[in-house]
Amino acid sequence: MTTYYYKREIGAYMIRSRILNVFRGAFTRKRQFETSKMQINTIRIDASSICQLRCTGCGFQKSNGRELGYGYLTLEHFVDFIDKNPQITRVELSNYGEIFLNPDLIEIMAYAHKKGVALEAAMGVNFNTVSEDQMQALVKYEFRFLSLSIDGASQESYSKYRIGGDFDRVIANVKRLQDLKKERGVIYPKLQWQFVPNEHNEDDVLQAKAIAAKLGIPIVFKLNFMTSYVPKDPERLKTETGLTEVTRQEYLEKYKIPYLNDDCLQVFCDPQFNWDGMLLGCCRNEWAFFKSNLFVDGLEKCLQDEDFQRMRAILKAKNPSQNQMEGIPCRNCSIWKSRHKYGKTIHPGI
Ligand SMILES: C[S@@+](CC[C@H](N)C(=O)[O-])C[C@H]1O[C@@H](n2cnc3c(N)ncnc32)[C@H](O)[C@@H]1O
Ligand code: SF4
Repeated sequence: MTTYYYKREIGAYMIRSRILNVFRGAFTRKRQFETSKMQINTIRIDASSICQLRCTGCGFQKSNGRELGYGYLTLEHFVDFIDKNPQITRVELSNYGEIFLNPDLIEIMAYAHKKGVALEAAMGVNFNTVSEDQMQALVKYEFRFLSLSIDGASQESYSKYRIGGDFDRVIANVKRLQDLKKERGVIYPKLQWQFVPNEHNEDDVLQAKAIAAKLGIPIVFKLNFMTSYVPKDPERLKTETGLTEVTRQEYLEKYKIPYLNDDCLQVFCDPQFNWDGMLLGCCRNEWAFFKSNLFVDGLEKCLQDEDFQRMRAILKAKNPSQNQMEGIPCRNCSIWKSRHKYGKTIHPGI
């Protein structure tokens, strides 16, 4: 009885603090959104744009790193950046490649932990190549969060999209990490299985949910960005995944704004940098750099970059014109194009 009461109280406390955190986060975003002098405590740096897989729809890897090039964040740059910016408390490390291919990753984790900086990979990891030392470091240095990109529930379906990937190895890696956490009695890293339905794995949804439950991790479903994918049984897919739309086109038609449009908020709250420090603005930008570099000019100068500030103002403007976007990377972005077409301005989410 006492245990039950205790658990219930803890549960209620956690729910209350989670709700409070959501409100706190929303107000912080609002403040960050309204001021031109950016005060941020989170940034995004791609720890590795290099990847060992060649997924069918991954334009970046298929175009040899596009404009951003192949490389990884070095320990030296990371240490220098953290030392000069004590206000930074959170860094997102994943974007276009696979962070576990970064040879400095363990030392980066150790340094972040020493300095009280939370690391996460919410954009995604394919989790095919993770050494035992990296596993140990993930747990020891309390890496906060990994989103595991696992599109399928068997090697056969998984490897048709995730070219070069090994489903069984990924599941074994997840299991190893969960076991390590259990052994040490720790909660980090928190894990999530991200499943993108495609023509090869549409029948795998229930099986994936069962495997995720067995592994003790939540599973989320994300809409495929490939327009060539048309679900063969949309109603079944909706029922099994809980998705209310099953293509991005359906989402756009319904809401007159693209799926995942809040990526634009990164420009105000947690700006994206390339592995070599070049300012990108948000995670979508794989077309062009701004002129400033995090490791050469420093964070403050990057945030005050003239074109970057111009872009922030345009994104917030009521009726911006396409001409105002001259020389700014967002010009090429499908989210911006839809915002412009449907007259949807960006807002901080409250
Ligand atoms: C380019 S990947 C890089 C990170 C990591 N290598 C991975 O695969 O998760 C960034 C994100 O794109 C997602 N992604 C890949 N192909 C996709 C598709 N066809 N539709 C939607 N998201 C996709 C991945 O699952 C991941 O969340
Ligand atoms: S694993 Fe990620 S980065 Fe690598 S090819 Fe696939 S989607 Fe692209």
